Amino acid sequence: MTLPQKWYAGVFGAVALCTMTATPAHADDLVVDRDGTTVTVHAIAPGVMRVRIAPVGAPAQDASWAVPADVRHGATPVTLAGNVLSTALLRAVYDPATARLHFEDAAGHTVLGEAAHPIERDGARFTLRADLPLGEHILGLGDKTGPLDRRGQSYALWNSDSFGFGSGTDPLYKSIPFFISTGGRGGAYGVLLDSTWRTWFDFGHRAQTTLEMGAEAGPIDYYVIAGPTLPDVVHRYTALTGRAPLPPRWALGYQQSRWSYMSEAEVRALATRLRAEHVPTDVIWLDIDYQDRNRPFTVDHQTFPDFAGMVHDLDGLGIKTVAITDLHVASAPGQGYGPYDSGMAGDQFVHRADGSVYVGTVWPGPAVFPEFTRASTRAWWGSLFAPLVKDGVAGIWNDMNEPAIFDTPTKTMPEDVVHRIASDDFAPRTATHAEIHNVFGMLNTRATYDGLRALAPDERAFVMTRASYAGGQRYAATWTGDNSATWDHLKLAISQTLSLGLSGFAWVGTDVGGFTGGPTPELMTRWFEYSAFLPIMRDHSQKGAPRAEPWVDGPEQLAIRRRYVEERYRLMPTLYALAETSARTGDPIARPVIYDWPAAVGEDCRTEMSFTLGGRLLVAGAPRPEQHNAWQACLPTGQWYDYWTGTTVKTPASLGGYGLLTITPDPAVLPVFVRAGTVLVRQPLVQSTAQRPDGPLELDVYPGPDCGGAIYDDDGHSMAFARGVALRQTITCISVDGRLRSLTLAPRTGSYAPWWHQIAIVVHGEGQYRAQIDGHALAAPAGARFVVPDQPKGTTITFTPE
Ligand code: NOJ
Repeated sequence: MTLPQKWYAGVFGAVALCTMTATPAHADDLVVDRDGTTVTVHAIAPGVMRVRIAPVGAPAQDASWAVPADVRHGATPVTLAGNVLSTALLRAVYDPATARLHFEDAAGHTVLGEAAHPIERDGARFTLRADLPLGEHILGLGDKTGPLDRRGQSYALWNSDSFGFGSGTDPLYKSIPFFISTGGRGGAYGVLLDSTWRTWFDFGHRAQTTLEMGAEAGPIDYYVIAGPTLPDVVHRYTALTGRAPLPPRWALGYQQSRWSYMSEAEVRALATRLRAEHVPTDVIWLDIDYQDRNRPFTVDHQTFPDFAGMVHDLDGLGIKTVAITDLHVASAPGQGYGPYDSGMAGDQFVHRADGSVYVGTVWPGPAVFPEFTRASTRAWWGSLFAPLVKDGVAGIWNDMNEPAIFDTPTKTMPEDVVHRIASDDFAPRTATHAEIHNVFGMLNTRATYDGLRALAPDERAFVMTRASYAGGQRYAATWTGDNSATWDHLKLAISQTLSLGLSGFAWVGTDVGGFTGGPTPELMTRWFEYSAFLPIMRDHSQKGAPRAEPWVDGPEQLAIRRRYVEERYRLMPTLYALAETSARTGDPIARPVIYDWPAAVGEDCRTEMSFTLGGRLLVAGAPRPEQHNAWQACLPTGQWYDYWTGTTVKTPASLGGYGLLTITPDPAVLPVFVRAGTVLVRQPLVQSTAQRPDGPLELDVYPGPDCGGAIYDDDGHSMAFARGVALRQTITCISVDGRLRSLTLAPRTGSYAPWWHQIAIVVHGEGQYRAQIDGHALAAPAGARFVVPDQPKGTTITFTPE
């Protein structure tokens, strides 16, 4: 219930409601004057409170690139009693005696509490301090390298072209100023520091039990996000900043890239080879060399004489084309280069302080940069994709959008570049590049995404970006940039993917095999194995590096790589259902083991290379994948099945939340396990997601407690799913003593007509079964595999162990 009771506490006794504010405090906000500042706490949802701190009488404008206005202006029932603002899930408590603010969960456990001297200012720059009790662990911050647990580390956020980065490189390409604390008394909580300026975080690095976060300048504006579980925080954070929309299904297919496939002939030959080698493939990527002199929105017709014909023919093979379009428009006056000419005519490019157009050198040579902070410029940029869309290009790759500039000492725009914001609920104003830098790449992708959606309103848009900011997941998938062909980078591929997933970016890829260097055959094969289970699987390599297509190391390695790609395609219904869930809930597609099993931690439980898909399929990565000696996989307590053999795994006695299993490494086998009580939905092998599978939909049942799964399908590319042209069917099953007794398909919902006419049920584990449907015995031609007609109305199949 809302109690519209006003309460204003002043540290120094003087309490005043600011009347000059551009964004008046809501009547039921907690408003405190402290040390010349006004602290305003506003609850926008039961589990999310926003804190803004501004000089008394000079509140900052209420605007944000990360949090859309309608979300920011959300309100929720609160109680304001004295110096305590409460929702059902969170309490903000201001203590006038200590002049500190803290947040508690509903049970009264502090989640985030200001430390002594909670704010330090140095000119425009500020640092906020909170307590970081021992026992808390920190996750998040997007693409940051190093251990997933960021406790004891400090970081800077400044989007940087980080070619050849290593595990200690910081800052990196993206700025996602969001972290999650776990392990505290109140469970997990999250914080988004909504500042596009250069920001920094210190998680007990300088002082062991102090958390610091700050920014170079700008308003103090942050959100406290309630748990108590890690998934709760991720769900709330993605409700706040938006969720990655469901992309076309082909985004889950295998993707082949190289800087660059230099000609149409080379691309056609590549497609032919991929099909001849039977490596299932959905996408070929075109890097900068398909363009005329590296100019965005052009095609080099010398080397790609029939670009549209090529794209069309690839489509015929079930292969989509994704083309790069960088944000640096060639500065080419008087040369008939449309994007430059129309951009200049419309004053679309960023200016220097003296009003001249800023020119920096990138791939095309001298280049100019769209003013993406203006809605009108974004619309102009979006319209430039019309020819590529007309030619059938299916997705767009926005690279170099930190922005990377070659000829400046900082490798990016100088700070005397002045942006002209005119967007959303920002008051039109100028802003220095220092303020806009970290959000520039995200606004580039926003322009691209919105442009693609406008040009083909009933198609899902696919955009890939290198740089981004909090909320950028609304517009683009991402990859981790210019990694290297080393075992360390294979490890980073996992940790960066998981961290980005917890930070809102469910759609992540790494350059499979490493961008620079050239992998050993074994490393490349392992990278294929892991990536087959990660959200985006794209093989990409640097110009000049050894070729990195799947076959380059000979037939034996190719056979293993192909087998993993094939496995991914067989699992496509499960992957696609996970993607659809992620778009609705914000759950990462690949997530750390602790996401579902917070107790699976311990000195000897090493899961930094492990992850799960939906908490049911667990990839147990070796902590040192380069070593060949036996190692101990850590499996959360419970029964598990070996994914490859379908047999139950004999896990040793539980050591609290987990058990250890000795693994003898085999270069051709990635240890993958399935939680007992899972139904995985699989399909017959196809060479592309565009191909209709031939045969039944397969339900792989791994008997156990809490048994179930889900079928989801739609046409895989249009927006019809949003109008209900989709299909959902819930599966539940009952097991007794690890043997399956029944499997129930609930009635199907949604109007999409599926490709399958039959359903095959495969029961894993030991022993044989007899099965019955509607009182009739089912024949079991081979092992425990039963085939029934499709069951749109739902049914129950009973099983009798033999
Ligand atoms: C840098 C990107 O990170 C890389 O993936 C790409 O191949 C090159 N730019 C060339 O476009």
